Amino acid sequence: MRRVLCAATLAAGLAATGLVLGAHAQVAPFAQRPDEQPASVGALSDMMISILHRHAILWMAGASENWPLADYEARQLRTRFMEAAQVYRNIPVETVAAATKALDELAQAIATTNKAQFAPRFLELTRACNACHVSAGVGFVVIETPRTSPFTNQSFAPAPK
Ligand code: HEC
Repeated sequence: MRRVLCAATLAAGLAATGLVLGAHAQVAPFAQRPDEQPASVGALSDMMISILHRHAILWMAGASENWPLADYEARQLRTRFMEAAQVYRNIPVETVAAATKALDELAQAIATTNKAQFAPRFLELTRACNACHVSAGVGFVVIETPRTSPFTNQSFAPAPK
């Protein structure tokens, strides 16, 4: 009897959660997959999780003055943005352009190993992330400068020569 009750309570609870989620569900207007898109293409939100990781690695690399890694990660991020823009063609071009412009300026600081410029340019990149999220209707996804590394299995110190 107790088990039946528990199952009923759980079902009611899930139904209520579903209702709440339904009421608040937000779908970014340009995150919809185009019909002709191949099934093998990742969801935009999954691409974004990869971008989130790279954003963190890029910060750790610059803060550790591991410039080759920072350069590598900045290129990876650029590629991910271009892929997202190519697949999800309804992403407004100016939001992607703002992000790649911020990345280009950051890449310059990296190329000249300019640590003083790295932090403010990284902040500009982060602002471009958030500006696009607001314009996409997912302003609740707020990106900031990482405080610590989320990765305990990667060293960010420059590799010994
Ligand atoms: C050109 C627009 C655009 C830019 C620039 C952008 N994003 Fe996003 N981001 C989106 C959209 C749209 C979504 C929602 C995707 C969805 O729900 O399908 C999203 C979602 C996310 C999510 C949530 C993913 C999840 O499944 O929880 C994260 C994290 C994220 N972005 C990180 C970033 C970071 C970090 C940057 C900057 C380095 C960035 N984004 C730049 C458009 C953008």
